[in-house]
Amino acid sequence: MRHFLTTADWTRRELQALIDDARAMQASPIGGALKDKTVALLFLNNSLRTRTSFDVGVQQLGGHAIVLSPSGGMWPLEFEDGVVMDGDAEEHVREAAAVLSRYVDLIGVRAFPKFVDWSEDRKDKVITAFAKYSSVPVINMETITHPCQELAHVMALQDRFERDGRGGLDGKKYVLTWTYHPKPLNTAVANSGLIIAAKFGMDVTLLCPTEEYVLDRRYMELAAADCKANGLKLRVTHDIDEAYDGAEVVYAKSWGALPYFGEWAPEKDIRDRYRHFIVDEEKMRRTNDALVSHCLPMRRNVKITDAVFDGPNCVAYDEAENRLHVQKAIMKALAS
Ligand code: CP
Repeated sequence: MRHFLTTADWTRRELQALIDDARAMQASPIGGALKDKTVALLFLNNSLRTRTSFDVGVQQLGGHAIVLSPSGGMWPLEFEDGVVMDGDAEEHVREAAAVLSRYVDLIGVRAFPKFVDWSEDRKDKVITAFAKYSSVPVINMETITHPCQELAHVMALQDRFERDGRGGLDGKKYVLTWTYHPKPLNTAVANSGLIIAAKFGMDVTLLCPTEEYVLDRRYMELAAADCKANGLKLRVTHDIDEAYDGAEVVYAKSWGALPYFGEWAPEKDIRDRYRHFIVDEEKMRRTNDALVSHCLPMRRNVKITDAVFDGPNCVAYDEAENRLHVQKAIMKALAS
C-alpha cells in the first residue's frame, strides 16, 4: 500500500506518469476508477479548491466522498502517543484512522501547522499518524507541504510552455518569490514549489526578504540535491532585480518566518517593511516573458497586481483547474 504524503517519496518519472494520466482525464473526465469506493476527506482547516475538487473528482470517477471536519461535528482528536487524554480530545487518531479504514478506501487529510513551535510543526504529526494507523492509502491535502498543488503547478507550466512552443521545464529559470501578506502564512506551498521545481529540472531561485525567511532545511536540502543532480545550483537571494532578471516562471507565495513561530509580533515588524515584494508589472518587465502563478487564495494588489494576475502570462486558473485532474490521477493510482 502506498500513500501520497510528499512528492519527495515519488520519483520524477512516477509523478510525470500521474500528470500524464491527469491530462487523459482532463480530456475524458468521467470514468469508473472509484466505482463503489468511498473517500473520506478530513479537513482540519478551511478550503475552497481542495474540498470542491476532491469531491467533484471522486464523483466523476464513480465514487462517493464524505467530508469530515471539526465544525461538522467530528470528535476532537488526539495525535500524540502515550498521553493521558484528560484534555479536550475525545478520540485518539489510532482509533479514528483504524475505524475510518474499515469504512472507506482512501483518506485525505488537511492539517496545517499550529504556528506555535516550528520544531513541532515540522514533524507533520497529524498526517504521519493517519498514515501510520490507517490501513488504506492516505493523501496529503496540505499540511507542511501541498503535493497535489505541486502536480497541478507542474502540469500548468508544462501545458503553457508546450502550447507556446517554449519547450520543457528543464533548465528554465524558476523564481519562488515571497510576497507580503498581513498574516504569517503556512510555508507548505513554498516548500512544495521549491522541491517540485528542482525535481523537474528547473533552475531554482528563492527570493525572500531576509535570511529569516529561508525555508526549512529539509526542503532546502531536498531542492539543493535535486538541483545538483541536474547540474544546477539552488540560489537564494534577497535582491529583487537579480531574481527577476531572465526568469521564465515566477511563483508567488507568502509565508511566516520560521524563527518567529510562536512570537509573531516582531516578525510582523519585519514583514511590514517588505510590502514592495509584490509581483507587479515593473518587476515582470525584467523577466524572460515569465509565466506567473499562485496556488490561491490570493490577496489581489497585495501579493500580485491586478494587471499581472489578469494578464496573459498568468496560469493560476489553469493550476487551480488541474487540481481536479491530478487528484483524480492520484486517487486512481492509490485505489487500484
Ligand atoms: N490552493 C488550495 O489548496 O486552495 P484551498 O485552500 O481553497 O483548498
